[in-house]
Amino acid sequence: MSTTETGHAQQDSYEPSEEFVAQANAGKELFDAADADRDAFWAEQANRLHWHEPFTQVLDWSDAPVAKWFVGGKLNVAYNCVDRHVLDGHGDQVAIHWEGDPGDSRDLTYNDLLAEVSRAANTFTDLGLEAGDRVAIYMPMVPEAIIAMLACARLGLTHSVVFAGFSPTALRSRVDDAEARLVITTDGQWRRGKSAPLKEAVDEALYANGDVPHSVEHVLVVRRTEIEIPWTEGRDLWWHDTVAKASPEHACTAFDAEHPLFILYTSGTTGKPKGIIHTTGGYLTQTAYTHHYVFDHKPGKDVYWCTADIGWVTGHSYIVYGPLANRATQVVYEGTPNSPDEHRHWNIVEKYKVSIYYTAPTLVRTFMKWGHTIPGAHDLSSIRLLGSVGEPINPEAWRWYRKYIGADKAPIVDTWWQTETGAIMMSPLPGVTATKPGAAMGPLPGISAKVVDENGKDVTRGDTEANGYLVLDQPWPSMLRGIWGDSERYKATYWEKYAEQGWYFAGDGAKIDTDGAYWVLGRVDDVMNVSGHRISTAEVESALVGHRKVAEAAVVGATDDTTGQGIVAFVILKGSAGEVDSDALVKELKAEVAREISPIARPREIHVVPELPKTRSGKIMRRLLRDVAEGRELGDTSTLVDPSVFEAIRASK
Ligand code: WT7
Repeated sequence: MSTTETGHAQQDSYEPSEEFVAQANAGKELFDAADADRDAFWAEQANRLHWHEPFTQVLDWSDAPVAKWFVGGKLNVAYNCVDRHVLDGHGDQVAIHWEGDPGDSRDLTYNDLLAEVSRAANTFTDLGLEAGDRVAIYMPMVPEAIIAMLACARLGLTHSVVFAGFSPTALRSRVDDAEARLVITTDGQWRRGKSAPLKEAVDEALYANGDVPHSVEHVLVVRRTEIEIPWTEGRDLWWHDTVAKASPEHACTAFDAEHPLFILYTSGTTGKPKGIIHTTGGYLTQTAYTHHYVFDHKPGKDVYWCTADIGWVTGHSYIVYGPLANRATQVVYEGTPNSPDEHRHWNIVEKYKVSIYYTAPTLVRTFMKWGHTIPGAHDLSSIRLLGSVGEPINPEAWRWYRKYIGADKAPIVDTWWQTETGAIMMSPLPGVTATKPGAAMGPLPGISAKVVDENGKDVTRGDTEANGYLVLDQPWPSMLRGIWGDSERYKATYWEKYAEQGWYFAGDGAKIDTDGAYWVLGRVDDVMNVSGHRISTAEVESALVGHRKVAEAAVVGATDDTTGQGIVAFVILKGSAGEVDSDALVKELKAEVAREISPIARPREIHVVPELPKTRSGKIMRRLLRDVAEGRELGDTSTLVDPSVFEAIRASK
């Protein structure tokens, strides 16, 4: 067995059931069509949308790496997501089953959505906003957040959604970078049944930097918690005094396929977040295409639930644009999974008979930690498909997810993509692909990806030692068009490494097994080098989490005098682990990793900790764990949910 052999080839594989295949949106022929004529294939996907003016060319790549897709075409995103469904006679279909944190709920039909989006569009126009202007949206998961995004899209205003958990400083830097003219927010937000201020943070952001002027002319405030808020006369406006009183009629115009739809900031390797730019026609084409085929979505029949927040790209592409373009009926939930208790998600699934459930591995592992008797207490028989996104899902969590949430039969789609890719790039097709727990399997029809070495040479299939880099060697419709205000950084970050070949470097390590399945191993900066051997943090984490007593694990490479890097692991134990002799357990876990992967992957240290440092999007902050492992002062902890976790982690060392 080679050093990083994880036995993928021998791993279990799950064929789609005959029953699923018979009704699936996608069959094998989708791959054939894309292979036969890529441009024609994408033109066909684009034509699932309504174009006010048809495009004359599918792709113009002459200005690479900035693509133009569906050249000459004109469309309106909001018309595609709302109006056309009403015009087609589906106005009474529920678009959004909204569940509030404290237990209130609200249903919005496509008719309702059209009226609300039109009202908001009329208000934004009254405020003097014009196509191309930027609008910052800083809101919790309330229907008005989605309405605001759609109203921006309707008017060609470029939105920049800032996650409502971000600090005033983070909001200010994003507002300044994009020069937003309008900020939309709520008075406060509900968190586990308690209200917390939000508008206050906007004021703090706008008054920060002393008298440094900002671009914001108005702050539009939705009343959500009735918490008291500071108010600036003339600048601040209530949604219920303006939008609610505006006309529900609005005739939209169409925008160029390359009109910028939104900016979304994401962190890079430096401290300054990158404003990723997405445009209109290609973005909507690929989000709608992937939502239809990857989730096997049936409009009017399925009840779809993506548990993401609109502050992240998953919320943009798979709550707002993809699903609504496909006339989905979906659940939108404001709160956390354990408020008022750990049954919340399953109560919601039962209430609305959710049939498609899309979440992140970190949440699946949290559910595992809480124990299967919790979902076991509910009728989850409506669920027919499960999705995963955000990080590699460890096989243990994958199997648990399928068994306890998917009744051992729902296919799981492990979807690999990024803020930059805009939409899903790799995933099984649920009626076609035999899935392996932990693998995103391969590029979708119309998408091309390779796994290559440092020099751009294809990595041999089944070569588990030569962990390669994931690259995208063909442009795709929903690709980013740049970084706001910094085209040099765009080129340097994504296109420099394989400039000669003209490939996009995804920043992820990957390998292809002997069956041709792609395994994404995580960011390459999370790949460790131990005695010249490359070992993925995700692989070691997976091995640790495979142990019956471990709920979650985070692994970092810490500088080591003899081996270059040494593996340092932090683990949380399952609630059911009971009293444990931690010295004995640490020994057992080290042996387990050595056995599962290779003796080279045996962690140098394992620390049992009560919590792991996570960002609000659920990503483990490995950089900070590396600081702890290497005994340094902590770097920037401002994006952590709970900076105090470090006291506990340090105490355990
Ligand atoms: C990075 C992108 C895509 C929306 C949410 C995150 C990792 C994402 C998977 C997956 C393995 C995955 C990658 C990628 N990632 N999905 N299914 N399997 N890794 O968006 O914050 O832009 O992060 O998340 O490392 O590069 P993001």
